[in-house]
Amino acid sequence: MAENRMTENEILLDVQNLKKYFDLGHGKSLHAVDDISFQIKRGETLGLVGESGCGKTTVGRTLVQLYEADAGKIIFRGRDIATMSRGQRKKEQLTKRMQMIFQDPYASLNPYFTVGEIIGEGLEIHKIGADKKERLDMVYELLDRVGLHKEHANRFPHEFSGGQRQRVGIARSLALNPEFIVCDEATSALDVSVQAQIINMLIDLRENMKLTYLVVAHDLSVVRYISDRVAVMYLGQLVEIGAVNEVYDHPMHPYTIGLLEAVPVADPDYEKNRKISMMKGEIFSPVNPRPGCRFASRCPYATEECSSITPQLRCMGGDHYTACHHPVG
Ligand SMILES: Nc1ncnc2c1ncn2[C@@H]1O[C@H](COP(=O)(O)OP(=O)(O)OP(=O)(O)O)[C@@H](O)[C@H]1O
Ligand code: SF4
Ligand SMILES: [Mg+2]
Repeated sequence: MAENRMTENEILLDVQNLKKYFDLGHGKSLHAVDDISFQIKRGETLGLVGESGCGKTTVGRTLVQLYEADAGKIIFRGRDIATMSRGQRKKEQLTKRMQMIFQDPYASLNPYFTVGEIIGEGLEIHKIGADKKERLDMVYELLDRVGLHKEHANRFPHEFSGGQRQRVGIARSLALNPEFIVCDEATSALDVSVQAQIINMLIDLRENMKLTYLVVAHDLSVVRYISDRVAVMYLGQLVEIGAVNEVYDHPMHPYTIGLLEAVPVADPDYEKNRKISMMKGEIFSPVNPRPGCRFASRCPYATEECSSITPQLRCMGGDHYTACHHPVG
């Protein structure tokens, strides 16, 4: 776990009852993010985990305004940005303050631009720096920050390795000096050794540039390594949230237990005895979902109450919260 760096207790991001639905037509609506609330303190890293399709990317995209929220509040630096007009968002400089790093840097880098042009584009648009020369110096400094060289500025994205391309993507996201960055599977397409280099670089940048992260990753060990707290999502809802070591070592929601148990372990006895059977069973649809706990069809502890009453997040002690009628432990 990252050491506790939270000298200030300032809440940078306060997400309240956020909803993002996708209209599928014919009266069908996919509840990708369905009434979730959480906070992130300045300087903190919150990990976000859960199975494919549970809504992690949709949360990230909605926070950085790539999607409009359907309901709820996103209070950033004390102001609700979810309901702001385009003009207000511009005034608040949200595109500068919030950035997102994507899984596939190649897809997000314009192949016809040099790396210097890609990194410098935001500086140009926002008229940062007195002139071209000063902006170029800023590009060189950004390349240096992400472990690349001046000479790389004149090359095109296809001339780089996957890890180097991700470094370019990170340099671009840092160009406008952001406060909050969503890292969405930023290292999952990379080799393990390159992955470790990029993760350590993200940690260094967080310290040096006073960044706050939301880190989305399938790899639970990556999330544990980089995060202060972790939030677990299941079918559009948060089911557990707390300090990362607390949640990993003492999970209370049956889904979190199943998710952590599904990680392969190099111990044949452990492999034989673990209870991954709880992860079997039909997965409810996020389209017009029925009331009650969405994990009920896969949960070995489900009771009648679970199928009719939607569990809400409850404090289980300290800052450990879980949404379950019968938490474990
Ligand atoms: N633009 C869209 N239109 C319709 N449905 C969408 C759209 N984007 C995402 N969805 C659906 O919303 C749900 C959440 O998708 P999302 O991409 O947020 O999941 P995820 O947790 O990031 O998954 P993964 O781990 O595979 O990246 C899924 O059911 C997905 O099919
Ligand atoms: S609320 Fe019920 S069904 Fe849902 S996780 Fe808890 S025990 Fe299982
Ligand atoms: Mg995703």
